[in-house]
Order: sequence, then C-alpha cells, then structure tokens
Amino acid sequence: MPPLEDRSLELTGQELRRLIDAAAARVVAHVDSLPSQPSADVEGGIALARSLVEPLPETGRPAEELLDFLFERVIPKSFNTAGPGYLAYIPGGGLPQSAVADLVSDATNRYVGVFAAAPGLAQLESNVVRWFCDIAGLPAEARGILTSGGSLATFSALVAARRCRLPDDFLSGTIYVSDQTHHAVQKAAILAGFPEERVREIPTDARFRIRVDALSDAIAADRAAGWTPFLLVGNAGTTNTGAVDDLPALADVAEREGLWFHVDAAYGGFFLLTENGRRILAGIERADSIVLDPHKGLFLPYGTGALLVRDGETLKKAHALSAEYMPSMQEDADLTDFNLLSPELSRDFRGLRIWLPLRMHGIGPFRRNLEEKLELAQWAAERLREIPGVEIVAEPQLSILAFRRIRPGADESVLGRENRRLLERINARRRVYLTGTVVGGRFAIRICVLSFRTHRERMEQGLEDIRAAIREDAEGDRP
Ligand SMILES: Cc1ncc(COP(=O)(O)O)c(C=O)c1O
Repeated sequence: MPPLEDRSLELTGQELRRLIDAAAARVVAHVDSLPSQPSADVEGGIALARSLVEPLPETGRPAEELLDFLFERVIPKSFNTAGPGYLAYIPGGGLPQSAVADLVSDATNRYVGVFAAAPGLAQLESNVVRWFCDIAGLPAEARGILTSGGSLATFSALVAARRCRLPDDFLSGTIYVSDQTHHAVQKAAILAGFPEERVREIPTDARFRIRVDALSDAIAADRAAGWTPFLLVGNAGTTNTGAVDDLPALADVAEREGLWFHVDAAYGGFFLLTENGRRILAGIERADSIVLDPHKGLFLPYGTGALLVRDGETLKKAHALSAEYMPSMQEDADLTDFNLLSPELSRDFRGLRIWLPLRMHGIGPFRRNLEEKLELAQWAAERLREIPGVEIVAEPQLSILAFRRIRPGADESVLGRENRRLLERINARRRVYLTGTVVGGRFAIRICVLSFRTHRERMEQGLEDIRAAIREDAEGDRP
C-alpha cells in the first residue's frame, strides 16, 4: 500500500494568492459600502441562523462560493458595528489595517507567548504595552498584557489584586464598585472565586460618579464587621453614561485604606491621548491596574483588550508557573515572556494588529479622531437641548450622552414606554443605531460616539432622525 499522504491543505503560492485576492475583493467592497449599509438589519436573523445549521462536511466547496455566501447572505444580517451610524453600546470601528496585520500574524503563525520563540515579534508586542503604559502615565516597572477584551483583562486584574493583597484563603475579601460599574467586574470577581455579594455596589451622585462619602462609610462598616476590604474599582468612563469617577479622591481612599486601586478605562482610557481627556481622567496614573480596550478607543476590530499593572512583578506573581517541557524564560527584566504575565499560553499574535496601524499612521490621527468624538458628543447635547420636550439625562463627560423625551404629567412607566417607542422610531430610519438604558430609574436613549468613521454629517443625520421621530411621536400622542 502506498503511504497515506494528503497535501490538499497545502495551498500552492498561486492558490493562496487567489484565495487572498478573492477575500480582498469582497472585503474592500464591503468596507467601501459601510456608510450606505443600514445601521442595523437583523430582521429575519433567527430564521437565517436556523437555516444555517449544518453537519460537518466531508468534502469541500470552492472558496469563492463560500465567500459569496458569507458576504451576501450572512454578514448583511447584523448590526453595522463598523459603520458611521453605529452609536450604540460602545462602537469599535474595526480598522481594516488591523485585519491585514491579522492576516500576516496568522499566516506566519509565530509564537509570541515565549520570548525565545520569536524575540522580535515579542518585542513589538512589548512596545505596544509600553506605549499604553506611557499613555496611562504608569512607571517603568509597569507591565501588561494584551487580552481578547476588557472582560478578560479585568479578570486578570482581579486575580493579580487578590493574590497580591489577600492570603490564599481569601473569602473575607471585599471589593468596592459603583452602581454604574460594568458587570465585567462582577463577573471577574465571581470567576476569581468571590461570592457575588462580596462586591459592594456604592451609590452614585447626580452625575453618576461614585459617592466617595458612601464608599468610605461602606469600607468602615465592613472593617468593623470583620471583612477585609482589598480592592477599589474606579470608572474612567462608564458604559451607561460615560461617567468618570473622581479618580484622585478614589486614589486617596485606596492609599489611606491600603486597597488595590483598579481603574476600568475600557471605554474611556484612550481619551488620555487628548488634552481634555487628560484633564478629565487625571488621577488614573495612580492606579495599581488599568484596563484599556483598544477595540473601543483605538477603533480596532473586536478581540483586543489590555491590562496594565503598575508593579509588573505582582502581575507575574499571579500568573507565572514553570514546567519541564517549557523552553527557558528570560532573566533580563526588559525582555518579556508573555505567558508568565497572563492566563494564556498559546494565543494569536495580537500585538501586530495594534502595532501596524500605530506605526503606519502614528498616534496623531487617533488623537484627532478622539478629540472629534468629544466635540461631536458636546455638539449633539447642545442640539438635543434645543428640542422642546427633550431632557438630557446624562451630559457628555466624554463621548457618551443620554437623553429622553418628557411630557408634563406623564409618570415614569409611561415615559419609559414612550421613549422605548421613540428609540425604535429613530432606529427604524436605519441611518443611526442607538441603544437605551436605565439610569437613576429612568429609561434613557444613549448616544455613544466612538467610531473613526463617525463625523459631523452622520451626527446631523442622526439629529434629523431624532427630531422626525419626536414629531411623529407627538402627532401620535394627540387625541
Ligand atoms: C466600561 C467597560 N468595562 C468593561 C467592558 C468589557 O469589555 P469587553 O466587552 O471588551 O470584554 C466594557 C464593554 O463594553 C465597558 O464598556
């Protein structure tokens, strides 16, 4: 019998080029058409999903056919998260330059978890982390990791804090967040082994910032009851309203109380690149750990978060293990073996998707884009204020604001219903996509401006749609 040999997975150079060209043609057409695509289209999405259930195929189909299927049938049924009208949740953008970097890193498939396996590439990723530490104002001993997103970065932050500040038997530890903190912190606490109720939710003030007096009271009460306060989380831009806590005051509390000070800057952190952002986020440089999400504020494709830790050794202590089958790690503190700082061993080379666009463009266009987003949020708040019957529920502190339509005599439940309907009417025009939330017991419509593709003209269209939807609503209200 001849030896069993199958080489069909090994594409020739020509086949690979054809495949890349076929994908590139469709990607380019898709990206070019983003502004004219609806801001969201998921009608019939469940039926589509059900129709796509399929068995594992034994044999293949031509790539062109599969790419057409993706671009024509599957991709269009979704929120247009990369389009200029996506002002929902937290927009990302999805810089296609990063997709090219991913192509390079996946096709070369080098291993960056261990420095010795790809010293140059590991260094490029270290450079990215160092740039982020510099942006955040962290010292030379700071270290960090790139993660798949803010949630996993938060998980590693909590584990580092727990292992640094608590004994192995850690269940007396308590964590302090505000009632606006992202649930990624709660989830990370649970994953890190804490019962849910050890996360103390502190109330916020009229601007949705943690009340420092209530925080100090809660810490004192916990100490008196025998708990061990060890971790304080500050918000550098909440998801709900973009609120920024009084970070210097929180840093003072953490210092006085001996707490690890973590700052969730997943949404807001990269505004540090702007002058206004630096003023608003002052105090972040006193954090023990910071989460940043390049797939938010640096407009990268989903799948890129970052954790920065002031004392890199604490991150290492929380994650470093050795094994006989592993290659030797670096002794030199300047050379990073990322597996020693992270829960991950094998992973994609995510550093390149940040490094390539930053080296291609420099930080200037990112800074100017973020400045523009801050201005657009202010502009939108001013325009909304001019509309009779509109209340700004949350003024923009960064690039998120929230508003609602109010009517004299209407109670909260009626207003909630009416504003949900208003939101549907705005989104039905499909030029912008907004989402709602509940803040301080009030349903409000959020606008989050964070895409590098969102400029004044799309915001004007959004305002037109809001005005038109309000007019329609007001006509519907009349007896
Ligand atoms: C403030 C904040 N923290 C944490 C997260 C979680 O990050 P990710 O979705 O990247 O896991 C988000 C996501 O929207 C966020 O806005």
